[in-house]
Amino acid sequence: MTLSRTDFRLAELFPPALAFPVGPSGLVLAAPAKLNLFLEVLRKRPDGYHDLESLLVAINLFDTLELQATTMAELRLQCDTPTLATGADNLVIRAAEALRKYVNRPDLGAVMSLKKRIPMQAGLGGGSSDAAATLVGLNEIWKLGLTRRELLAIAASTGSDVAFFLTLPAAWCTGRGEVVSSEESRRSFHFVLVCPPVGLRTAEVYQRLVVPAEPTAGAAVRAAFRAGDSESLGRALFNRLEEPAFALQPLVERIRRRLDRLGSLGAMMSGSGSALLALGRDQAHATQLAARFLATRPPDEPQSRVLVVRSLTP
Ligand code: C5P
Repeated sequence: MTLSRTDFRLAELFPPALAFPVGPSGLVLAAPAKLNLFLEVLRKRPDGYHDLESLLVAINLFDTLELQATTMAELRLQCDTPTLATGADNLVIRAAEALRKYVNRPDLGAVMSLKKRIPMQAGLGGGSSDAAATLVGLNEIWKLGLTRRELLAIAASTGSDVAFFLTLPAAWCTGRGEVVSSEESRRSFHFVLVCPPVGLRTAEVYQRLVVPAEPTAGAAVRAAFRAGDSESLGRALFNRLEEPAFALQPLVERIRRRLDRLGSLGAMMSGSGSALLALGRDQAHATQLAARFLATRPPDEPQSRVLVVRSLTP
């Protein structure tokens, strides 16, 4: 492959407001979480993955990743969350390794520091977003000049959701999630985000899934999103992974049922869970819903993390 320096434009790969230089060879990136507003599974594939259709939107909840290029041929990662391993399995390291391999430059080195704010095993895409930020950031500070197309291919090899985070702030995703087509809305949507104190493993959720004979169509959710019509969007929220996730973690179903009674425009689990969302008419309504959710918690329901978030706009 040939590297074309002229193709190299950070702003085309990542929203400029989410990346800042630190010194001559460093960069800080804000890696956003995502919500799935629609997720239908079409079929199980011979490779074990599932073909799906999903509407993904980035929200204003961010991990922070600082990258510094070094002269040593070493990838070093530190993280403020002790429960997250920082070795070869970490998606940041996997993305950096995949990038070095693609350009055949084992001599490249970086010191990387990750501050986790996005709950893990929550269906919010935190690890995938960190991986995408790593690809974009290292492409910049290592001056590789890879195109968006090349980064998308490396992203897909790192995880099913990583390509979405190179297509911010919203996309219709197909294939196993890595075939991304940009979506645009006229406005932000406001949500209550409930993160239960239990996680779900994506692979386990998919294992329990029963593929539907007749998939639900995503046309209504896409139209509502594009039009900025929150009432219609609330009615069109759909996630096929709820059933298997609820079977694995009854608390998630219990919280979903409680969210259903709050008076939101619609409530649902995000991705493979365990986080849930409830759509408000506007920020004030979402804040009111959050207060209502907190105030009506039964004493025997474990405490969840509750946030008011909005979808990012271009
Ligand atoms: O691609 P990623 O590593 O995020 O996927 C984690 C696991 O989730 C996969 O190993 C697979 O078991 C399951 N999965 C799937 N179909 C998808 C995405 C993920 O079965 N479209």
